[in-house]
Amino acid sequence: MDNIILIGFMGSGKSTVGIKLSYRLRRAMEDTDKLIEKEEGRTISEIFATDGEAYFRNLETECLKKLLRTETHKIISAGGGLPIREENHALLRKLGTVIYLRAKAETIYERVKHDTSRPLLQGDDPQGKIRRLMSERTEIYEKTSDIIIDVDDKDFEIIIEEIVEAMEERQGD
Ligand code: S3P
Repeated sequence: MDNIILIGFMGSGKSTVGIKLSYRLRRAMEDTDKLIEKEEGRTISEIFATDGEAYFRNLETECLKKLLRTETHKIISAGGGLPIREENHALLRKLGTVIYLRAKAETIYERVKHDTSRPLLQGDDPQGKIRRLMSERTEIYEKTSDIIIDVDDKDFEIIIEEIVEAMEERQGD
């Protein structure tokens, strides 16, 4: 399908890039976290607190399957952990072009340090958690994506232009 899917660590800018890209390309945008919150009628933090991470991961796979049945030509921002489950790789790739917004751990920490909406980064050592999760995930993000955009120290406008250029190059191939 011809969707554009944004993947990457929490705080890598998927939501903001998604919104700006949706204006730039005149495509509607979806966000898996928001779809799940709407469907469940509660926040991600509440889902984690009440039913745990495994339950949330099942919701993510269900959400992906639903998107595959219903969506074309959209921008889709995927939750940071969604690409990790093996089963989701093929689903993501079927859904469209996968773009990985790659950021360094320091960039992520600066962006999320005051945030309380991400259950995996709460607790007393968020920097350590970011580094640990990142070392587990980076290879998977790279393997799952068609395009990698480094986002550290870049304005969103530049990131959007790099994505548009990379998409045009792919279409020209
Ligand atoms: C998660 C990322 C979050 C959200 C949940 C778990 C993760 O999405 O799905 O808190 O495992 O990285 P964002 O990447 O949009 O913050």
